[in-house]
Amino acid sequence: MRIDIVTIFPEMCAGPLGLSMMGRAREKGLLDLRVHDLREWATDRHRRVDDEPYGGGQGMVMKCEPWFAAVEALRGEGTRTVLMTPQGRRFCQAEAEAFAECGHLVVLCGHYEGIDHRVVEALVDDEISIGDYVLTNGAIAANVFTDAVVRLIPGVLGDERSAEEESFSDGLLEAPCYTRPAEFRGMKVPAVLLEGNHAKIAAWKRERARERTAAVRPDLLAGEG
Ligand code: ADE
Repeated sequence: MRIDIVTIFPEMCAGPLGLSMMGRAREKGLLDLRVHDLREWATDRHRRVDDEPYGGGQGMVMKCEPWFAAVEALRGEGTRTVLMTPQGRRFCQAEAEAFAECGHLVVLCGHYEGIDHRVVEALVDDEISIGDYVLTNGAIAANVFTDAVVRLIPGVLGDERSAEEESFSDGLLEAPCYTRPAEFRGMKVPAVLLEGNHAKIAAWKRERARERTAAVRPDLLAGEG
């Protein structure tokens, strides 16, 4: 998969997306990630990418020209163009699974008060929010989005089962997990996990997952998640 991220803060993406699983996905050739500075496509002397809003109001608005030039330079046949914005539809695991099927994503990171709406109307396929809160800029959201999508590309995770068994893929949070020692400061690992009966362990995990989901995220059990 190829992902192009366009932002005025390329360092915010290049660092986190060069490490750990994302770094390894790139080394294995499963991810071709390119992070671009939007100012590369600014044409005026000061490389301005924002201007005052028509109609007044707080803050600055990102201009059409550099965004159109960037997207037109980067997109090709079959590209999906995604804008990270708190105005978007809320990102979730099912969305991540759908985006993981795409061959090429161009991810636009907003900043300031927003982006000239002509960019959204003419260029953007999906407006995506990573949650109901406002970040200082979309580059942070692009990191979250990219990580959640790329780890679902076959071969990125060492153990394919870890993506299948995890939270949200079955609509429940995960059961608690433990490792050695079996007792620490008087706190014991649940006996069922030490006994090696796999059917009993699976039933125990399902029950704990249901309990935890009911306590913390009842909306998931009600099918609203
Ligand atoms: N930019 C600022 N806040 C955001 C959010 N919650 N999701 C996506 N992009 C954003």
